[in-house]
Amino acid sequence: MADAAEFIVEIGALIDAALDELLPSSDTSPVRLHKAMRWSIFAGGKRIRPAILFAAGRTFGADDNRSVRTAAAIEMIHTYSLIHDDLPAMDDDDLRRGRASCHKQFDEATAILAGDVLQTIAFKAIAYDELLAPGTRVRLIQLLSDAAGTPGGMAAGQQLDLEAEGSDASIEEISEIHKMKTGSLICASAVAGALIAGSNDEETAAIGRFGEKLGLLFQITDDILDATQSTETLGKTAGKDAAAAKATFASFYGIERASEMAADLLEDVRSALVPLDRETDLLEGIADMVMHRVS
Ligand code: IPE
Ligand code: IPE
Ligand code: MG
Ligand code: MG
Ligand code: MG
Repeated sequence: MADAAEFIVEIGALIDAALDELLPSSDTSPVRLHKAMRWSIFAGGKRIRPAILFAAGRTFGADDNRSVRTAAAIEMIHTYSLIHDDLPAMDDDDLRRGRASCHKQFDEATAILAGDVLQTIAFKAIAYDELLAPGTRVRLIQLLSDAAGTPGGMAAGQQLDLEAEGSDASIEEISEIHKMKTGSLICASAVAGALIAGSNDEETAAIGRFGEKLGLLFQITDDILDATQSTETLGKTAGKDAAAAKATFASFYGIERASEMAADLLEDVRSALVPLDRETDLLEGIADMVMHRVS
């Protein structure tokens, strides 16, 4: 099996170089805003979404150069979502990626604007990517604006996540929230890689089914890790979900049953790759990492 851990390290270096090129330098005015964006984006995230995009791209034969800006764009949208997720009005977390969260290191207004502008630069990076045909750029912008927005996308899921705090949400409702707030961007990462490679409709649909399941698995494991790992290992405050009475798989089922469900879902994730007549070791390796990660 292709070594997913090595692959993620390789992709991490490509992504960091692209992000450095795409973001304004930290001595460009307004300096505080650009420093804040860089603080959060270069804080050592796992870069899982870019890795999924590159892995899906390679599965269908994409050249890495054509994937890198869209992968960086998704990492920017993801980082914006984390900056806003940590704000006092949302999950109120002081720690992110092992360092002070953006509003703690800077201030709330700067953190809000840093998130806003990470999102706009993300779309700009795709719009200006001359390695992609104009039609491909439009498809990617459609895909990501749906995945990040509303209804059905990340921002919509974040709203429902906050509204579900302290509620007796059903498991169907929790699953929907998870698919929206986290699954949509993970699924879009997989689909984007396939689109960049020029996948046909059938292949794109199959990779979409893989991405949907992987996205749900990702948030279930995030819920389990919140309840089982230390703050030090997570790089974000442990036990936050229980403290905020979040509606999660762990709160609904308990850790043991939630872990069994995650293991079953991993099998579904793998099965979704079967219809693809391609070498899928890398995608399988990433799915394993999502399941077995500790942070
Ligand atoms: C955390 O995502 C937020 C969720 C969507 C669950 P990651 O676990 O990918 O965070 P980083 O990017 O590695 O910091
Ligand atoms: C966040 O889910 C999903 C996002 C869209 C950022 P969580 O609130 O569980 O993410 P963490 O645990 O703070 O990283
Ligand atoms: Mg949250
Ligand atoms: Mg949170
Ligand atoms: Mg969490």
